[in-house]
Amino acid sequence: MPAAFDVPYDSAAMADSVPTPGVSEFERSVKAGLSARIKTLDSKYFYDSAGSALFDRICELAEYYPTRTETTILRRCAPAIALAAGRGAELVELGSGSSVKTRILLSALDRPAAYVPVDISSDHMLGALHSLRAHFPGLDIRPVSADFTEPFVLPVRRGEGVRLLFFPGSTIGNLHPADAESFLRRLRRDFSPQAMVIGVDLKKDEGLLHAAYDDALGVTAAFNLNILERIGRELDAEVRPACFRHEARYVRALGRIEMHLVCTEDHMARVGDMPIRFHRGESIHTENSYKYTLTEFTTLAERAGWHSSAAWTDEDGLFSIHLLAAG
Ligand code: AVJ
Repeated sequence: MPAAFDVPYDSAAMADSVPTPGVSEFERSVKAGLSARIKTLDSKYFYDSAGSALFDRICELAEYYPTRTETTILRRCAPAIALAAGRGAELVELGSGSSVKTRILLSALDRPAAYVPVDISSDHMLGALHSLRAHFPGLDIRPVSADFTEPFVLPVRRGEGVRLLFFPGSTIGNLHPADAESFLRRLRRDFSPQAMVIGVDLKKDEGLLHAAYDDALGVTAAFNLNILERIGRELDAEVRPACFRHEARYVRALGRIEMHLVCTEDHMARVGDMPIRFHRGESIHTENSYKYTLTEFTTLAERAGWHSSAAWTDEDGLFSIHLLAAG
């Protein structure tokens, strides 16, 4: 062990040691999740810079059908969405990430009044916006750095057109259906949008699902394990990513694929002053990704107070895009 004065000054590490509300919320959530009888970590914490970059790589994988399928569907349905939205719509995107699908929609819209990307991974979002700015030089872009699973505020509405929410990627699938319903209701109540475009992954052959969440190159495994590495980087904690392996399980009765980190040897870990005992074979449940049929999702949206205006799927019925109307 080097003496303290031998340790080089690391501005990033120094910055990390400054308590911020975001970090203590992360710590609170990690402690709660790892002290429960069945251990869990909240999947929203996958998306630090490393995790966001890994997620971008997942989206390029041969096995990960959602991204390319949704993109194909969006190319087909964007004109119909643009027609429904009319001139001067304000586009608000939840979990904008790399904003790839956004371009398709923005290109189709008739003189959008503004684009408002909302993302929990602020640096990643701002990076992606550079190239978007170059693509749409006249566009009013107003990024919001927020965790959209918590209440947040949007900048003052732009223009006279409609407010159109865009929630692609089947991120809605990370929520339990009851939470998805209240989330959709809350969006309508808090932001008074006229419409929403939402991407929803569909129930399908379990082999395809399994491959998509446990790819041959191990990118999804690295994405899953990164949440433990993040805990080690950002919190006063000792965790051992090497003592875990990635596992994806489809639970048919619940219509969801689960991601787990399965412990491979008995060991102790620590988060702050909290010791955590891990037994070989036990798992940390890190993500649920719910899959719906078209009717299951339409019913859920209607229960949340939205009207289903249209839905599009690819020819293999892998993925769907829904146009919901608020009023
Ligand atoms: C970002 C929630 C859409 O559930 O498919 C990808 C995240 N997890 N591979 C999904 C994810 C594992 C993804 N969403």
